[in-house]
Amino acid sequence: MHKALRPVLTAGVLAGLLAGCATTAPAHDGAPTAAAAAITPPGTAIASAHSLATEAGLEMIRRGGNAFDAAVAVSSTLSVVEPISSGLGGGGFFLLHDADSGRDVFIDARETAPASATPEAYLDADGGLDRDRATNGPWSAGIPGLPAALVHLAREYGELPLSTSLAPAIRIAREGFPVYERLERGYARRSAVMERYRGTREVFLADGDPPQVGETLRQPDLARTLELIAAQGFDGFYRGDVGQALIASVAEEGGRWTVDDLAGYEVRLREPIGFDYRGWHVVTAPPPSSGGVALAQMLQILGGWDLAAMEEPDRIHLVVEAMRRAYRDRTIYLGDPDFVDMPLALLTDPAYAAGLRATIHPDRATPSDLLSGQPVPLEDDETTHFSIIDGEGNRVSATQTVNLLYGSGLVAPGTGVLLNNEMDDFALKPGTPNAFGVMGFAANAVEPGKRMLSSMTPTFIESDDKVAILGAPGGSRIITEVLVGILGFDAGLDAQQVAALPRYHHQWLPDVISAEAGALSPSTVKTLEAMGHTVNAGEDTWGNLQAVAWDKRSGELSGGTDPRNPVGEAAVLPESTTNP
Ligand code: DON
Repeated sequence: MHKALRPVLTAGVLAGLLAGCATTAPAHDGAPTAAAAAITPPGTAIASAHSLATEAGLEMIRRGGNAFDAAVAVSSTLSVVEPISSGLGGGGFFLLHDADSGRDVFIDARETAPASATPEAYLDADGGLDRDRATNGPWSAGIPGLPAALVHLAREYGELPLSTSLAPAIRIAREGFPVYERLERGYARRSAVMERYRGTREVFLADGDPPQVGETLRQPDLARTLELIAAQGFDGFYRGDVGQALIASVAEEGGRWTVDDLAGYEVRLREPIGFDYRGWHVVTAPPPSSGGVALAQMLQILGGWDLAAMEEPDRIHLVVEAMRRAYRDRTIYLGDPDFVDMPLALLTDPAYAAGLRATIHPDRATPSDLLSGQPVPLEDDETTHFSIIDGEGNRVSATQTVNLLYGSGLVAPGTGVLLNNEMDDFALKPGTPNAFGVMGFAANAVEPGKRMLSSMTPTFIESDDKVAILGAPGGSRIITEVLVGILGFDAGLDAQQVAALPRYHHQWLPDVISAEAGALSPSTVKTLEAMGHTVNAGEDTWGNLQAVAWDKRSGELSGGTDPRNPVGEAAVLPESTTNP
């Protein structure tokens, strides 16, 4: 099953690599000193995209739990209150720092392709990509990973039983929560697909009409499924009544999942990617996320310059050129490490980054290999990130998703579980862009049991002075959102300022700089265009970054929640208020 993937180096990259060998590595050594690592934060900070989830996490700390118990509570509550973004029917990545051992661990709870998922299954009669199958209903769904992650987190790292850490989610699912604007708007965009399915209608049209702001959304079946997980762990979701109901529902809608697909699901523990950037040590997501590799490339390219000393157009030009190069490598090389051999050591090597840096012209855009027309319309209200640090110094950076708005739109009747549409993250038809306009080839081709490539990039950064934890939704734009966030922390901004930073993005193809309104000044846009860039300034906002930070010198804990999302909350709980 394992496919050897040979690195494809273009002449230009190779020349750059060689040139890079002669240049020096980034100027700073980022490893924080042992003395700085020994102290602990004065409490807990949690930032998430919904205040009910942040509060659920704080409740676990008050009950004597740690950051990992809080993560179970936040994750499961987000699964209830943000069905638009993530849920038990989806997957996610959990980056942990265990203060006792000092170890960083990456829990990969990405969905897997069911046995029925062959490339042919996603082609239409003319051999084109069947976009309906790729993004709607049973064929678009991978085998969920999030429930297995919750069970693993609680068992291996938590101090509280699942019955405690899942209690807020169970309560909110049963009693309901107030519908907010993003939920109503997302439902309106997705209703035609969602209302195809009996189980989905039972949840979202329970009162006869679509969810509206101010109404209470109750999900009693989801509460029952959560209770089964609390009582039976893995088997409560992947075997027994819930497992059978998922298989039956997929079959009822024309898809095919097996008992083995579900019972055989396993989280994978992976070594995070680590590298240094200007005095920061960055710990981030390895494959099957593309985020860490891309971040390592971009920041190590940029580490060769003093960005702060530059005029805005020059700075943006260089950051965009770094983005362009990292996204090209993402497209060609990256996939599920259990299925493909990737040249990871090379791709994340400072010498490789130096080589890429040498290929960047200081004031001319490098045209991407192919020019395509317009950027793809952005789906931006899905996926969710949360960041936690507790009083012992444990850290969690977690991004979880059902992929596009309300995932596949399919709720398995009787379970409350809305299935993801993560299969679209595979290169279902090699070379054909997915919903985020990114494409892939052999490394990310679909195969039974394989994990689809992701952009989710839960990240820690640490210097002698500071720890920051951040991440975001935004599809292929997640990685550049995290990059802009790290550059913000490096420039001295606090967590709230970082969450609010205006965003810009380039993903190799299409060969366009996308920018939120106000992110680039008109004169910067003009200069970038004169350098040969195509700039789409004034796009709608995107993303939903959640960050916490701990200043090791002053002891200050802080959080930042994205102002683009009014229902998020960043909160700090001082140590003295916990009650173990
Ligand atoms: O894993 C990924 O990269 C995507 N499924 C994430 C989707 C996402 O962020 C949607 N967001 N706005």
